Amino acid sequence: MYKIVLLRHGESVWNKENRFTGWTDVDLTDKGVAEAHGAGRLLRREGFGFERAYTSVLKRAIKTLNIVLEELDLMWLPVNYSWRLNERHYGALQGLNKAETAERFGDDQVLVWRRSYGTSPPPLEDGDERLTVDDPRYATLPRSRYPRAECLKDTVARFVPYWETMIVPDILAGHRVLIVAHGNSLRALIKYLDSISDEDIVKLNIPTGQPLVYELDADLRPLRSYYLADEDVIRKAEAEVARHGGPRE
Ligand code: 3PG
Repeated sequence: MYKIVLLRHGESVWNKENRFTGWTDVDLTDKGVAEAHGAGRLLRREGFGFERAYTSVLKRAIKTLNIVLEELDLMWLPVNYSWRLNERHYGALQGLNKAETAERFGDDQVLVWRRSYGTSPPPLEDGDERLTVDDPRYATLPRSRYPRAECLKDTVARFVPYWETMIVPDILAGHRVLIVAHGNSLRALIKYLDSISDEDIVKLNIPTGQPLVYELDADLRPLRSYYLADEDVIRKAEAEVARHGGPRE
């Protein structure tokens, strides 16, 4: 049996401001930093150790990983960074307030943009400064394939090849793997691992800073998965994530 841990970054500045973030490289808030420390301490208390770590090229995930590794006294660990673990690209919604967008376009439309499997948000247009194609961190991503917006299906399509070619060999080699990524890139991986239907994936919300353990069989099929925190804490945090995008209170 293999065990891996998935972790969404701690609260970011734009989580706090309730803005669509996607590939925008925003920092953690103080609360997000505290959540990362909490996740690291929880993993340490529960006796978790790792030989390999994976994260995106966005600082909210990288900082969360660094804090967790510091808490585990594993700052020397080999870390793999890839844009393939980035948050789902939120296209032209990036930067907009979720509640204001819901007031303008309706809750149903915003739910489709946030949670549906196959419908992309409106795309970035040519010349939009949010189109960071020349950023060196995307040097391995052909310009023509830099996303203008992604639906979850697109995120699955770019994450799964990385999972298969990079992460799976590490797991099969017996390395204990920690993956620190984002709400929707983790939804993409979980959809794939748990074979969740296109309809049911709409209901999955991943809280910030909560370690999620996957136990996998010899063929890397999930045997069980569970959060380390108490169930009521997780349910509340999931509901909070789901609520974002609703009308302002
Ligand atoms: C974002 O990119 O805005 C967040 O990281 C995830 O947001 P969501 O829960 O609205 O998809």
